[in-house]
Amino acid sequence: MNIVVGVTGGIAAYKVVHLVRLLIKAGHEVTVVPTDDALRFVGRPTWESISRNPVTTSVHEDVASVRHVALGQAAELVIVAPATANTIARMAAGLADDLLGTTLLATTAPVAIAPAMHTEMWRHPATRANIAVLRERGVAILGPAEGELTGGDSGPGRMLEPEQIMDAALALLDERDDERDGDERDLDGLRVAVSAGGTREPLDPVRFLGNRSSGRQGTALALAAADRGAEVVLVAANIDDAVLADAGRHPLVRIERVGTAAELGDAMRSAAEDAAVIVMAAAVADYRPAEVAEGKLTKESGLLESIELVQNEDIVAGLAARRHPGQIVVAFAAETPGDGEELLARARRKRERKGVDLLVVNEVGWNRGFEAAENAVQVIGDAGAVLAKASGSKRDVADDIWDVIASNLD
Ligand code: CTP
Repeated sequence: MNIVVGVTGGIAAYKVVHLVRLLIKAGHEVTVVPTDDALRFVGRPTWESISRNPVTTSVHEDVASVRHVALGQAAELVIVAPATANTIARMAAGLADDLLGTTLLATTAPVAIAPAMHTEMWRHPATRANIAVLRERGVAILGPAEGELTGGDSGPGRMLEPEQIMDAALALLDERDDERDGDERDLDGLRVAVSAGGTREPLDPVRFLGNRSSGRQGTALALAAADRGAEVVLVAANIDDAVLADAGRHPLVRIERVGTAAELGDAMRSAAEDAAVIVMAAAVADYRPAEVAEGKLTKESGLLESIELVQNEDIVAGLAARRHPGQIVVAFAAETPGDGEELLARARRKRERKGVDLLVVNEVGWNRGFEAAENAVQVIGDAGAVLAKASGSKRDVADDIWDVIASNLD
């Protein structure tokens, strides 16, 4: 198998020599892509002789063979070890000014990273946020372990041992194969309409009433369906480009951007016409300002002191009321927790009120649900039965929700 091992500038680089040796011994073809900084720890001749392949760091070498994308395209697995805090930040940002950066952007192979750094750096909110971003994109984070660190400290931050990295990284391929062999294309040709994000209701040219929905769960649902073969219209309300990036590249996803509840309603009604499944994951504003001011409202005008609101139509209830035979309508409910039974009771009432087939309920709070990469939901079906409980990354949750939807299809 073709494996790229990215090596970055940490003292643990010396242990990666052993990792490369193990991979070669196991019969794999290994190309080492160090960063310039990594070469200060272990030099190019070592990597070349151990991997038996040429080693370059820059996108400007070996240009004729388009090495900066070719390596990533040919890779069946990419391991970055050690992954420094700096490299993790660069990966999260998608930077590509060296060969490792371009290789990581060009690959569709599983990527595993083995972080190594001081405990404080590992625990820093910037690193944690970057790790969350990578995890959400499907990068496997191997370790770090707790133990002795350079300089005599100890705590989490130590790179896993080469044997552990090899086993965990190769196991990713088995997981992927299992997914492929399974019911991967079980939604082949199914047309689905998914709404995601949060609507914004303008008050004047600079202000709006909005909500904290990032669109991550809805976008994950759209992608999961497309990966399983469905043709997806993703109606995206105010979602960051970064969140939409993967869906934007997927050949089976068409993104329609909307701003307000009214626009979202129009887009969903038209997408629903030939959809077999409608998923309303968007957070829709229940109310909008009765009037939208032409110019920016000032304090002097007194118009900001109280704002008259009018109710928006309930889009999903309308879609459910007009659904054609066999069409499945799924609504979402983000509820702040009471005790568990109260949450379920509220969700069951909401499902009845909206007349939808399935209602996915998740707990939200000031720090829960919205921008997080992880989620925990329950899917409620006929007669209020809890058909599934799912938790984990938003992508895993999306796949579990599609499992329930798929089992409800005729
Ligand atoms: N929804 C909708 N149109 C609206 C409001 C909500 O289609 N005007 C949809 C959402 O996309 C979601 C579901 O209804 O799928 C539940 O949203 P929620 O805001 O929880 O429902 P509400 O009826 O507004 O209930 P609550 O009073 O608890 O806010």
